[in-house]
Amino acid sequence: MGTVSGAYKDVPMRLKHVIPLDFESTKVVPESHIWPETENFPLSDRVLPSDDDEKSKSWIPVIDLMAPNVVELIGHACETWGIFHLTNHGIPSSLIHDVESQARRLFSLPTEQKLKALRSAGGATGYGAARMVPFLTKYLWHEGFLIAGSPVEHASVLWPHDHKTFCDVMETYQKMMNSLAHQLLLLMLKWLEVSEDELNWKLSMSQDALLLNSFPACPDPKSTIGLAPHTDSLLITILHQSQEGLQIFRNGFGWVTVSPIEGALVVNFGNLMDILSNGKFSGILHRAFVNQIRHRISVAYFCYPPIDSQVAPFAKSKCPIYSSLTVKEYLEIRAKHMEDALSVIRIK
Ligand code: OGA
Ligand code: NI
Repeated sequence: MGTVSGAYKDVPMRLKHVIPLDFESTKVVPESHIWPETENFPLSDRVLPSDDDEKSKSWIPVIDLMAPNVVELIGHACETWGIFHLTNHGIPSSLIHDVESQARRLFSLPTEQKLKALRSAGGATGYGAARMVPFLTKYLWHEGFLIAGSPVEHASVLWPHDHKTFCDVMETYQKMMNSLAHQLLLLMLKWLEVSEDELNWKLSMSQDALLLNSFPACPDPKSTIGLAPHTDSLLITILHQSQEGLQIFRNGFGWVTVSPIEGALVVNFGNLMDILSNGKFSGILHRAFVNQIRHRISVAYFCYPPIDSQVAPFAKSKCPIYSSLTVKEYLEIRAKHMEDALSVIRIK
């Protein structure tokens, strides 16, 4: 079996894309994690956030879910930005706080312990590196824990006698986020003037997953990256971040920092929404940077239709730009082509 050089020299080839770096014992950024300045990082953008980023707070729409004109606000934000902050969303701040602290508890475990809950190469739930890693030339300053279905099995490996709190908090959060995603989808459909019956699945049957992201403090944050530029793959993403790190690519501006707003969640779309809306609501390119001092945690909630349902541009789209396919077929294309998935299913 082959091995890779440098930081991964003892890791078998088949696992090198799944096992994150042992950040705890890494005092210098290894060659495997140093990103060339040219790749994805135009030199002028390789700056860490400064006061200028204050501007970005006012650029990106902040939407109150309870506003009387919420449909227009969301529709407009979706079409012009593809991302917005959401306030008054009804998720208790104490629950969000508990989710972040349980995630921190998980990532603070010793590396050998976390590796016991490693997700299998083809598997969903568990600890591991980001799915984009095999498509990159360099590794990421990131480790994740994906919860698809119940986290009990993996959590009981991490904490044999004490996994209940973790599981309860994650399950409660996932349930509340599911109903929030449902509400947001209804508002978006309203804006697009599409009735729920036109969907090939019942919104109440929507599936979901929760991704806990960890970006350990990094000795040289400018040389590496937390998550490389990507678009999300599913329908809708709702992100909690309490520390800076998320950036979006805005045409004409370059990379813009999405600074956290106390109490707000960040909403953006994935490729499946792009397909349904026939390109009207398209997924925004985003990435995450790391910092030298603090261990940053973010929590991404993803929502998608049941695996066998058909997704296609809504019937009212006069000139569909994507072909129709099942979620399962889409996921296979995404797993194979990652960022190029949409261009594969685009009607030529
Ligand atoms: C993601 C993502 C951004 C962040 O999980 O898909 O883009 O700031 N996360 O963690
Ligand atoms: Ni993302």
